[in-house]
Amino acid sequence: MTPQESLPVRVARIEAVTPLVNRYTLRHVDGADLPAFSGGSHIVVEMQGEGRLHRNPYSLMSSPWNTSHYQIGVRRVDEGRGGSRFMHEQVKEGSILRVSAPVNLFPLLKTRRKHILIAGGIGITPFFSQLAELRRLDVPYELHYAVRSQEHAGFATELLRLAGERLRLYVEDAGQQLDFAKVLAGQPLGTDAYVCGPAGMIEALRQAARTAGWPDSHVHWERLLAPPVGEPFEAVLARSGITLQVGAQTSLLEAIEAAGVKVSYLCRGGACGQCELEVLETDGELVHHDHYLSAEERASGRKLMPCVSRANCQRLVLAI
Ligand code: FES
Repeated sequence: MTPQESLPVRVARIEAVTPLVNRYTLRHVDGADLPAFSGGSHIVVEMQGEGRLHRNPYSLMSSPWNTSHYQIGVRRVDEGRGGSRFMHEQVKEGSILRVSAPVNLFPLLKTRRKHILIAGGIGITPFFSQLAELRRLDVPYELHYAVRSQEHAGFATELLRLAGERLRLYVEDAGQQLDFAKVLAGQPLGTDAYVCGPAGMIEALRQAARTAGWPDSHVHWERLLAPPVGEPFEAVLARSGITLQVGAQTSLLEAIEAAGVKVSYLCRGGACGQCELEVLETDGELVHHDHYLSAEERASGRKLMPCVSRANCQRLVLAI
């Protein structure tokens, strides 16, 4: 099964974990086992919204040792394009969805001596499946979990059961700040840090690690982005001979797919680089939201990740 193929699942259970986050348990419609995955994997969930198909990536929260079901956590984002609203408002227990096979862009490096997991808010989701692996591997680890307030700490009890005294919870409005320098200090050689959360948190951790002399290869991070909204524009697919309109709420990738042109993807969140397209011409400027392209590649104006990036222009010509 390729990441572009999908399989049908039934929503077996929906739990409201926090005022903004629901957890969904998904089972194959035939009751069969779902494809195997490893800790840190995500799936892409297809959602047929009003007039268009959303495909959003969500980390798997269930245990890799039990493929009778998958679990995902979805944070409702009211100012977004509607994918998370669709999951919260339209999807009910018993609903049928289609999901991709799992892909892992955020794996644990199992040869390391110790693992430091750092999560902010909904960024805790990939660590659930990693915790299942760590518990079985029986290697040392710490889990640092920061939330805005106690009402957003809905996963804390479960995490305490899974991680015990290895869990440190930081409730920001109670004045409990996560101090990255302190977390990284004094860790044994061979320790890796993994962070998932808001962009500012990821950058702060990476900076603290550099300051503490950690090699970049020992710091791992994941941030799967939802495509932002933007101004509408016209895209010309030169090789396919197609001209299409990209709406304000539609990603460039979705618009290309809706025109029947296939683009490969793994994450649909600006992280993997798989969907890269060559830009031939534009009368405006490219608006990059991915965290894959280098500063030089962005400056060249020749490359674009259509899953999250778009253009502020009247007309964009792509080589595809
Ligand atoms: S699909 Fe991964 S960067 Fe676009």
